[in-house]
Amino acid sequence: MSKVIYSAIQPSGIMTLGNYIGAVDNWQQMQANEDNKCIFALADLHTITVRQDPKKFHENAMSFYALLMAMGLDPKKSILYFQSHVQEHAYLSWLLNCYTYVGEMNRMTQFKDKSAKHSDNINMGLMDYPVLMAADILLYRTDEVPVGIDQMQHIEIARDIAERVNGIYGDIFTVPKGVLKKVGAKIMSLQDPTQKMSKSDPNPKAVISVLDDDSVIMKKFKSAVTDSETIIKYDAENKPGVSNLLTILSVCENKPIDVLEKEFEGLMYGHLKIRTGEAVCEMLRPMKERYNQLMNDKGYLLQCAKEGAEKAREIARPVLDKFRQAIGYVLI
Ligand code: TYM
Repeated sequence: MSKVIYSAIQPSGIMTLGNYIGAVDNWQQMQANEDNKCIFALADLHTITVRQDPKKFHENAMSFYALLMAMGLDPKKSILYFQSHVQEHAYLSWLLNCYTYVGEMNRMTQFKDKSAKHSDNINMGLMDYPVLMAADILLYRTDEVPVGIDQMQHIEIARDIAERVNGIYGDIFTVPKGVLKKVGAKIMSLQDPTQKMSKSDPNPKAVISVLDDDSVIMKKFKSAVTDSETIIKYDAENKPGVSNLLTILSVCENKPIDVLEKEFEGLMYGHLKIRTGEAVCEMLRPMKERYNQLMNDKGYLLQCAKEGAEKAREIARPVLDKFRQAIGYVLI
């Protein structure tokens, strides 16, 4: 039996090294397993929960789509589409709203954080965001959702909603499972390693964009915040900066962290920073080349997006209809 894998990314701000290591890299590995049926979306309906400049938003959406392909997601192997092109998402989201409690949404950590950050625009969409995310996942009878740690709470609520609906109507939705990468599920800021590396961080030195030039990447790693000791060892609590660098290097060089710790015995933090920066440049270089080629062929990207949306709709429509029928709607 094949497994359905579903995940999505918002085309807002910049695509970060955290997005790549924590999520997209995992998606591409899951795509390589022929037993998996992979579906990946640009969550562009989620993006407007925070106000966007229309021109920048439009450019970002194309750019993120091209980036996903440049990172190895292949529209021939996976379904790769824009959430806004498949209207079943918004429809199911409304239905699920009626099976979700306000108290549940009020408790969501990301809602609380984003409300504090955007206190002038605490819109209904921001609060409803996890319900739309549940709709994304449940529409495809998803088995596994590969994400970074910050999204796990939203997957838990998607499971609760699915179980609630199934409890009332029988087997409508598959109850999905969140899956994390063993190493790299939470890449930290380079300037404050107790915080997640985030697309929306106002300090550009804290964040690596996957499209940064090599020289910019090296500069950011050289100025990464570490600690006042000199020993290179993994200790996320007491040495978050060094641990973050070891994590990134471990993913880029595909080497276990304990092997790296041995290699760095007697060396200085500066060595670790430079080697990590170089490994990141190396890892991102082929992706950037492919990205530039893809961005020169927007017609091809749009064609892939259109075909992706059609394939997604074919799966989503019957699942939505089954739920509508169970609720009692008249289908025509
Ligand atoms: P988004 O766009 O914020 O992030 C996309 C993916 O990247 C992961 N991620 C990280 N992983 C490790 N370290 C980091 N510093 C880091 N920063 C981000 C996120 O966990 C995520 O997996 N709501 C979602 C998008 C979404 C979605 C979905 C995801 C919409 N519908 C359905 C899964 C299933 C979001 O805003 O992710």
